[in-house]
Amino acid sequence: MTKRITVVGTGYVGLVSGVSLAEIGHKVTCIDIDKNKVNKLNQGVSPIYEPGLEELMVKNIKSKNIHFTTSYEEGFANPDVIYIAVGTPQKGDGSADLTYIKQVCENIAQYLQKDGVVIVTKSTVPVGTNDQIKEWIKDNPNNKFTFDVVSNPEFLREGTAIQDTFHGDRIIIGSDNERASIIIEEINKPFNIPVFKTDIRSAEMIKYASNAFLATKISFINEIANICEKTNANIEAVSLGMGMDERIGSQFLRAGIGYGGSCFPKDTQALIQIAGNVEHEFNLLKAVINVNNEQQIKLVNKAIERFGNLRNKNIALLGLAFKPETDDMRESPSIVISKKLNSLGAHVRGYDPISIHNAKKLIPYIECVETLEDAITGSDMVFILTDWEEFKNISLNKFSDLMVNPIVFDGRNCYELKDVKMSDIEYHSIGRPSIIPITQTIS
Ligand code: UGA
Repeated sequence: MTKRITVVGTGYVGLVSGVSLAEIGHKVTCIDIDKNKVNKLNQGVSPIYEPGLEELMVKNIKSKNIHFTTSYEEGFANPDVIYIAVGTPQKGDGSADLTYIKQVCENIAQYLQKDGVVIVTKSTVPVGTNDQIKEWIKDNPNNKFTFDVVSNPEFLREGTAIQDTFHGDRIIIGSDNERASIIIEEINKPFNIPVFKTDIRSAEMIKYASNAFLATKISFINEIANICEKTNANIEAVSLGMGMDERIGSQFLRAGIGYGGSCFPKDTQALIQIAGNVEHEFNLLKAVINVNNEQQIKLVNKAIERFGNLRNKNIALLGLAFKPETDDMRESPSIVISKKLNSLGAHVRGYDPISIHNAKKLIPYIECVETLEDAITGSDMVFILTDWEEFKNISLNKFSDLMVNPIVFDGRNCYELKDVKMSDIEYHSIGRPSIIPITQTIS
């Protein structure tokens, strides 16, 4: 059953949702206030790097299933459903800023032209926000129509967003209105993903609790990795062994230099605020954040321990995005690390296969180079910050060929220790024993 759907906001969530809904046959209009972005989108140019997204977008623009506009008047003229997918950035106190959500509500009140439209919140919003959305629209003097509100949080990951949308584990539909929740269930039917229907507030909480739990898993395994380093155990084996227990699960047990991105750091802070608002001290989650902050500078501490002082050292950073397959550098450990190295007087050169354009803006005090070789050549040490395939697949000889004294600090455990042992590089990774070539004396 084809529906007319208007999606407000063409960030990660809005754009991927809009394109995916078009792909399963709905007629989608996406609204964004950024004129430049909308022009590009209508020409089939995606503003974000996301595997598979642009192809799907172009296909659905051609079949006229999706188009983009800056006009609320046009977008709200005749939809069956409106998806709100605008940003909820972090405020100074850690709580979510709902300014953009409120603006959308004002526009809905002004431009809606019929009864019965279902308003779906895709944005990650604190518990109680959907009730607030209802009030904002209902109480607006411009509003003349009835409508229903549904919470339908998004669980896609950057870098695998299309895959996640078409093969997700569950679709959460939070509503206190049977008609509205059936409409959203029908819309999503072609995805063939299990649907879980619940009340609005529980749906809102499921989103935060899920992200906080995944962040907890990461900080937990990173703490275990830190203990492994001191007890001569190997975190890779420990993660595998733990993950074989289905109650634990094997995913999100990769130790490294901590989580980043636009979601975990923001959502964990926001959940602490949500708890604080009802006088609950979320001590566990506070510890998760503290562990993550420490973990992000782990490689710097290892390098200081190894060299004593990093002043005037040439350091190559491989990978600047917060994870592979994205150009997103929001809250990336590379930002904290390059800031710290800069303050310690090191000369830093950075390379990333995709996010160099972002790096030039976000960390202008490092030298950005165009190839991995340019980054490594002549450096005193290499830090691997993102586990891009390009780094995982290189021959370890490359480090020996391009560096006088090849020393690698690997924040993502890209290489098997047995392979490193066959090379002549000095190698320090996370939660595993360091490897020092026999021929080399520590300088
Ligand atoms: C995360 C969630 O995984 C999505 O389900 C959710 O929809 C999204 O946030 C959101 O709220 O919008 P995302 O931030 O795109 O998705 O990326 P993840 O793949 O979850 O990775 C987050 C960070 O954790 C990355 O820095 C990654 O390197 C790190 N990570 C992940 C680890 O350090 N170890 C792991 O085992 C897994």
